[in-house]
Amino acid sequence: MKNEKLIKKYDKQAKMYENNRANQKLARWRNKIIKNAYGKVLEVGIGAGANFPYYDRNNVEVTGVDFSSEMIKSAKRTASHLQVKANFIQADIDELVFEANSFDCIVSTLSLCSYPAPIVTLNKFNNWCREDGNILLMEHGLSSNRFLSFGQNLIDPLHKKISGCHCNRNINEIIGNSQLQVNHIERYWSDIIYLIWAKPVRL
Ligand SMILES: C[S@@+](CC[C@H](N)C(=O)[O-])C[C@H]1O[C@@H](n2cnc3c(N)ncnc32)[C@H](O)[C@@H]1O
Repeated sequence: MKNEKLIKKYDKQAKMYENNRANQKLARWRNKIIKNAYGKVLEVGIGAGANFPYYDRNNVEVTGVDFSSEMIKSAKRTASHLQVKANFIQADIDELVFEANSFDCIVSTLSLCSYPAPIVTLNKFNNWCREDGNILLMEHGLSSNRFLSFGQNLIDPLHKKISGCHCNRNINEIIGNSQLQVNHIERYWSDIIYLIWAKPVRL
């Protein structure tokens, strides 16, 4: 199977992501971005379902995607515990196919760092999201602090090997080169964390 080693790495991390769901700092940022989701929502790289507490459960139906079966199991438990309407697809983002305009909102949190071709992925979001919908992102990337970014670039190969994701993605550049129209960006934690409110653009 493609990505077998990487999937195993994430399978092993499912418990850690489960324990990390209560992280208070992340909780504040998750709430800020996720409360804007409504209707048919696609959440990619759903992990252990850390965003479920912040969805308006009366107003969303979430399709959660992840290629890790352990993450999907954990996310299913969270959705059921919190009574959020959700269905799940175990798949690699690169192999996912949806019709254009399939979702009201698309959500990705802390996941762009993992995808091999993040601009291609964002352009898929652009196509899958309805014209009047929202693309909501909470990502981590390269700090604007020169010393921190130097460190991030230095440790990235090791970080990728251990965790499966890159710690030095230039999120501004990635978003700027995608088809999305960014409406608002907020940055936190020495600008490492990005909250992004975007809209699809019809070409
Ligand atoms: C860093 S975790 C973030 C999890 C969650 N979104 C959160 O905010 O806690 C990245 C997630 O993306 C999933 N993932 C990484 N690459 C993927 C791919 N190519 N296709 C599908 N899922 C992927 C991993 O299994 C993992 O659950």
